[in-house]
Amino acid sequence: MNGLSPIGVAMGLLLVFAASRVQKFYRGLQMVSNVHGMRMLFSPMSLLGAILPTAWWNPGLGFTWVWRETNFHSYRREIISSVPFLLGSPMFYIGSLGMSRQLLMNERKISLEKPKGLLVGLLLWGESVVSANEDIWKKHRRIMMSAFTPTMYSLVLDETISVYREMVSAEGWLDQKEVVVDNFNRLPVKVTFTVIARCAFGLEMPWSAGTDRTASVEEGLTPGEALRIVCETTLTRLAVPRWAYKLPIPSLHRLDMVWNYLAKFMNDAVAAKREELAASDLRPEQQTGDVFTRLVAASDEGASLGLEDADIVGNMFALMFAGHETTANVLSATLTFLGIYQDAQEQALNEIVSVIGNDRLPTLDDLRKLPFLLSCFYECIRLFPSGVLLVRRTTQDINLTMERPSESTIHINKGTDVIVDMIGVHHNPYDFPDPDEFKPSRWQGVHEQDVSVFGFGPRACLGRKFTQTEALTFLVMFLRDWKVDVLLALGETKGDYMKRVKKNAHHTGFSFSIGSVDLKFIRRSV
Ligand code: HEM
Ligand SMILES: *[C@@H]1O[C@H](CO)[C@@H](O)[C@H](O)[C@H]1NC(C)=O
Repeated sequence: MNGLSPIGVAMGLLLVFAASRVQKFYRGLQMVSNVHGMRMLFSPMSLLGAILPTAWWNPGLGFTWVWRETNFHSYRREIISSVPFLLGSPMFYIGSLGMSRQLLMNERKISLEKPKGLLVGLLLWGESVVSANEDIWKKHRRIMMSAFTPTMYSLVLDETISVYREMVSAEGWLDQKEVVVDNFNRLPVKVTFTVIARCAFGLEMPWSAGTDRTASVEEGLTPGEALRIVCETTLTRLAVPRWAYKLPIPSLHRLDMVWNYLAKFMNDAVAAKREELAASDLRPEQQTGDVFTRLVAASDEGASLGLEDADIVGNMFALMFAGHETTANVLSATLTFLGIYQDAQEQALNEIVSVIGNDRLPTLDDLRKLPFLLSCFYECIRLFPSGVLLVRRTTQDINLTMERPSESTIHINKGTDVIVDMIGVHHNPYDFPDPDEFKPSRWQGVHEQDVSVFGFGPRACLGRKFTQTEALTFLVMFLRDWKVDVLLALGETKGDYMKRVKKNAHHTGFSFSIGSVDLKFIRRSV
């Protein structure tokens, strides 16, 4: 009689579990001071929540895009909370310029941190300027910044011109009057990878190297392709336990091979650079040169000033991913939108021709005189923000003020994650009227420091000049040679095409991408 029945035990355990979840949930609501927002099973920032698709029962990684019109209660609110029942911790999401600035302009003063737990994908490769905090961040940032000089931007300009020419020739466009390109994005991705590899890392990276995603190392898998696969499979890599790679599952073997290949590629590059520096007469602190040289030299400066080996690879990976998918995505978007808006394309071309002419090569000075083209570029980052989620954790209690829904102060407890939702911020009609419209003119006359798409405050994008130099050079070269047009499906209008493009856009794990676009280029006869 007294014995516990298995069913009774199970019911008991279930009850305890349910009670613990209810308690977690209520504690979560307290932590976010009952601020309005989403209540869900799995936090979008938990591994499971991020992997599962965006659906009515799960926000997933994609919710900031898919639900952009309604997330902030149709933008009547500037901040919302997310409180999960089962997995993850409660968080805030910010969706206005005003609150993003308040948070990030003083981020050193209020000692915000980048939360390690939300950056595990990056940390697989080591600490970096993107992930580090406080004094360690300062050290990384100082070493990196020392290489972002006018000399580097000149190199970016020259290499972008070369890469454009290599692309046109290798793709067989030289003698074509018209080319049709399905899935155009693969080209900008290759352009930007080649440029960052050459300019930041001094790596020889010929355009002709293959882009066969299924190739093995022997068959010519390239570091660029491997990097792209690694970026796309980071969530899988985090989710799959080590032992699973020993199972007879070909797709996992392939994934493991690609990850190991990229790690080896980067470690070999570090070793080769170290040998090169050892043979040089200069002391480590006298080394100038590209980012990579400075990183390796800094690792020889001694522990307090320098970096660990893992930090070098961490920074290489961080720069390669921060510096290539981001720009590539916006280049695809810019050509697509100039294809949809022919009048804007005409205006951009006229500006280019009036500043540089029809065939002279652009200089850094010329690039500063193309405000309309630059505005088109900014506008496409606004529409498809590549720096998509800015994640922080408070290390002390803070107060933020908001204007909507009514003027008030919101208290945020120490240890809470606060995420700036760059899609929300940049589709907010209070800050960007007619947010769904492509309106380059909204950036005209905006001071460089106020261009919000690169983030805010001390940790804003380190590569802004790099990306602008690269993008403007590429667009100048491209638009002078080709009239860009979109490739409509049968019976499709340009409006439908734009809807299709927006439907295809998606989070890629680290960044945000416009996805696949089909374009047509018609040679301009000069
Ligand atoms: C369209 C292109 C780009 C966009 C939209 C963009 C956007 C951003 C944003 C929003 C941040 C702030 C992240 C945060 O506050 O959490 C950031 C940081 C950063 N970006 Fe970019 N970025 C772009 C291109 C690049 C390029 C080309 C490079 C390198 C060559 C680069 C390197 C970095 C680095 C290193 C950081 C971290 C800075 C720090 O934490 O101190 N970015 N970027
Ligand atoms: C936040 O505001 C409350 C009341 O308005 C105040 O008591 C508290 O000291 C403030 N906290 C901080 C960190 O400024």
